[in-house]
Amino acid sequence: MLRALFTAASLFALSAAATAETTLLTGGHVIDVERGTVMKDYDILVENGAIKAVGRKGTLGASGAAKIDMKGAFLLPGLSDSHVHLTSRSDLHGYRRLAVSTPRSAISGVANAEKTLRAGFTTVRNLGGPGFADVDLKDAIDTGEIPGPRIIPAGQSIGITGGHCDNNLLPYEDNAIGGGVADGPWAVRQKVRENKKYGAEVIKFCGTGGVLSKGTTIGAQQFTLEEMQAIVSEAHELGMKVAVHAHGAKGIQTALEAGVDSVEHASLISDESLALAVKQGTFLSMDIYVSDFILGEGEAAGILPESLEKEKIVGQAQRERFQAATKAGAKIAFGTDAGVYTHGLNARQFALMVKWGMSPAEAIRAATLGNAELFGLKDQIGSLAAGKRADIIAVDGDPLADVRQLEDVDFVMKDGAVFYNGLGK
Ligand code: ARG
Repeated sequence: MLRALFTAASLFALSAAATAETTLLTGGHVIDVERGTVMKDYDILVENGAIKAVGRKGTLGASGAAKIDMKGAFLLPGLSDSHVHLTSRSDLHGYRRLAVSTPRSAISGVANAEKTLRAGFTTVRNLGGPGFADVDLKDAIDTGEIPGPRIIPAGQSIGITGGHCDNNLLPYEDNAIGGGVADGPWAVRQKVRENKKYGAEVIKFCGTGGVLSKGTTIGAQQFTLEEMQAIVSEAHELGMKVAVHAHGAKGIQTALEAGVDSVEHASLISDESLALAVKQGTFLSMDIYVSDFILGEGEAAGILPESLEKEKIVGQAQRERFQAATKAGAKIAFGTDAGVYTHGLNARQFALMVKWGMSPAEAIRAATLGNAELFGLKDQIGSLAAGKRADIIAVDGDPLADVRQLEDVDFVMKDGAVFYNGLGK
């Protein structure tokens, strides 16, 4: 394990310095995620961190380029996850999280960012964590100090007093209040502005109760329509998209009416709301894998008994609504809530998405082009096309035939720098 980490780290350091050079990835099969097809025996030419050209083997005329033999592997654009919590540890829940300082969570974030990148996830939205540790994590990655995915940080999640985004574990006299707690339209606008000031690039707010929070109800809406509209208009004015945490039908519908960009969880979404999401083009980011982890881990990780009861209601229903959402033609993002469960296992959700109604190509599209559209980064990431960032991963079997191939990524390049190459091992 130690040795593997060391190798990955030194590869990162070496290749980070080499991004200015030209690299030819040769002898692989390139997945066209848009069409869901494989282009056999293709090369990809990478220059200055971007994809210069994609073409049949031997046709790109890349003399002088450093060559990497892809050994017949299948190449895809780097995957992305629209909902992670990099600074959270999945083995600490409930009261155990109270003992974690913001600096300590940042240290976990360093390790978790590396695991996430190693798993082939080259871009993530970090939808909340205490303090602004995710902003600092992003900065350390962007300056090349540590390896990790491209991060779109949310900073502090905004929520009502006593809601899912508050901290409800301690008694009144201990005065534990979540950093993003605010009530009333102007107060929530101030929180959006504060997030922007300290480096957030996307806004997350809680529109209903949640599974893991104490004393909240899944079905209960949090924030009024007026408050949600204030969050959305302020965030959009400042150039940020809005992700709402929402499980219950009423909160989902209200958040859709307020104009959010994505509904996270969307567990009990009604048919009416599905139709509205389709009409508006709102993304649904349904984390349908995490339930198995929460129920499997149980109280051993500190998960509250009330949370286990809530998860039993939400988990199965969410999968059925996911199936309804795909049938209705809703835009589906790939979001997992990693941090609640183990970082680096993000790709396990693909098999669930296929089991619950998507083709492998559709599930892969959600984690590439779909998320790229949601993130507003379609011109930069999401497919292997000339001009996009050279975020390229490879697996040794065809993921369009068996999507579980994505659970074992053999090659990871981000911005043209090879982070990991285990091809042929
Ligand atoms: N962060 C989520 C919450 O506390 C985790 C539960 C997600 N469960 C699920 N079935 N998707 O509400």
